[in-house]
Amino acid sequence: MSQAITLLVGTMTGTADLVAQEVAEVLGSLGYSPRIQSMENAQAGIFGSGGVFLVISSTYGNGDVPDNAQALFAQLANERPDLTRTIYGVIALGDTTYKATFCQGGLKFDRLLTELGATRVGEPLLHNASSGDLAEDMACEWVRDWISGELAPAIAA
Ligand SMILES: Cc1cc2nc3c(=O)[nH]c(=O)nc-3n(C[C@H](O)[C@H](O)[C@H](O)COP(=O)(O)O)c2cc1C
Repeated sequence: MSQAITLLVGTMTGTADLVAQEVAEVLGSLGYSPRIQSMENAQAGIFGSGGVFLVISSTYGNGDVPDNAQALFAQLANERPDLTRTIYGVIALGDTTYKATFCQGGLKFDRLLTELGATRVGEPLLHNASSGDLAEDMACEWVRDWISGELAPAIAA
């Protein structure tokens, strides 16, 4: 059976949704079984059975997660489930115009998941909306490296 990967999406204006759709296509073409899940409807229990997750989140406010990710983030922070069977990667969207809080939405999830015992594979992708590079293009390139360089050995271990 092919490895399932849940793409958890936190977004305000849809860029992270587009990234998730294109990344899911790449994952499917590489033989994985991607599932896109909006953070809006996600509960902390989604991590309960372990597995592989890709957190795709933009940044708003003062370095916060987007509105539709707030409830999930708060629930994880309050209930502090044991995520030691969870493997994850991070695609963080932001803009260097916001110097002090660049990509902190995705990076806040990264810190919290690590605190809860989950294992991150690979370095987070940090996309800068002011760079001129399309987030979905960078993410598709990143995920190919993530799969072949870091995720495959982590799953096999
Ligand atoms: C009101 C507003 C606040 C933002 N705050 C931040 C921020 O603090 N840090 C950051 O890196 N990017 C910030 N951004 C940039 C967005 O995270 C970035 O444009 C992202 O690609 C949007 O993705 P989305 O369409 O999935 O929400 C902000 C954008 C807006 C419109």
